[in-house]
Amino acid sequence: MRISFIGLGHLNSAILAGLLAGGFEATNVTATTHSQASAVQRSAEFGIEVIATEGNPEANNDAVANADIVVLGVKPPQMVATAEGLASALASDATVVSVAAGTTLATLADALPQDQPLIRTMPNVALTVGKGVVGMARGATVTDAQVEQVDAVFAGSGTVFHVAEKDLNLVAAMAGSGPGYVFRFTNALARAGAELGLDAATAQELARLTVVGAGAMLETPDAEPTALEDSIATEGGVTEAALQSMDAAGFDQLIVDALKANVTRSEELGA
Ligand SMILES: NC(=O)c1ccc[n+]([C@@H]2O[C@H](COP(=O)([O-])OP(=O)(O)OC[C@H]3O[C@@H](n4cnc5c(N)ncnc54)[C@H](OP(=O)(O)O)[C@@H]3O)[C@@H](O)[C@H]2O)c1
Repeated sequence: MRISFIGLGHLNSAILAGLLAGGFEATNVTATTHSQASAVQRSAEFGIEVIATEGNPEANNDAVANADIVVLGVKPPQMVATAEGLASALASDATVVSVAAGTTLATLADALPQDQPLIRTMPNVALTVGKGVVGMARGATVTDAQVEQVDAVFAGSGTVFHVAEKDLNLVAAMAGSGPGYVFRFTNALARAGAELGLDAATAQELARLTVVGAGAMLETPDAEPTALEDSIATEGGVTEAALQSMDAAGFDQLIVDALKANVTRSEELGA
């Protein structure tokens, strides 16, 4: 199997790193960037061929020739033009995978040759540490075998959840933006600790390592957040007192409202 990464930026590099770490042959990967400087840097980093479109207008076409899977990782505004530019060079059975926020399957299908196998994904930034979450929606003409191949591409960097395309905005609201909510919570915990008396640096490190530790507990097999919460919040105890205070302030509803705001913004942006 040959894979081409069009736009080897942050996100595609994370997917590629997971792929290579899983033993995929670097010689079966090609990639492109816009600038020559990025191409040189990424080629050295991964030991693969990376061609820059700067100075070579055929770079993307050259990279996808003979590819079984083409992962489009350019920024959303460049997605349609980039897909259109590839049309003549893609094998008819090459699976095109988009990681772009907001670009729909219908928009991509219009930009590509008729019946081109297509997959739209919504990955989150934790792919960069090999613990990503990826929402995946399949196009009308992609086969089960092609979907399985694309699942395997992400296996080294994240966990794939297959959803209908209509649910991708919600997946993005939860998992795409989710790390941002956790970082906000971590900051709030740190600031609260400082406000109540600890020095700021100690409070920040305490908050960070508390979230890291809780994340590790969630990683254990069969971990269940409610059971974990119950195991800490003994009746009449201090954690319960704090959680009751959060309940009284409407913490759960706050999260629901945040997800709704996120989805509404996605819809305003046209996804
Ligand atoms: N970062 C995230 O956490 C995240 C999460 C979910 C989804 N995404 C999606 O991932 C995509 C990429 O985001 P990113 O953060 O990885 O951006 P990025 O780091 O800027 O990567 C974009 C890459 O595309 C290259 N490029 C630009 N124009 C090109 C062209 N015409 N042909 C080939 N390559 C071209 C750029 O080259 P240069 O290096 O020379 O500039 C760069 O390497 C976006 O569509 C975004 O919605 C990102």
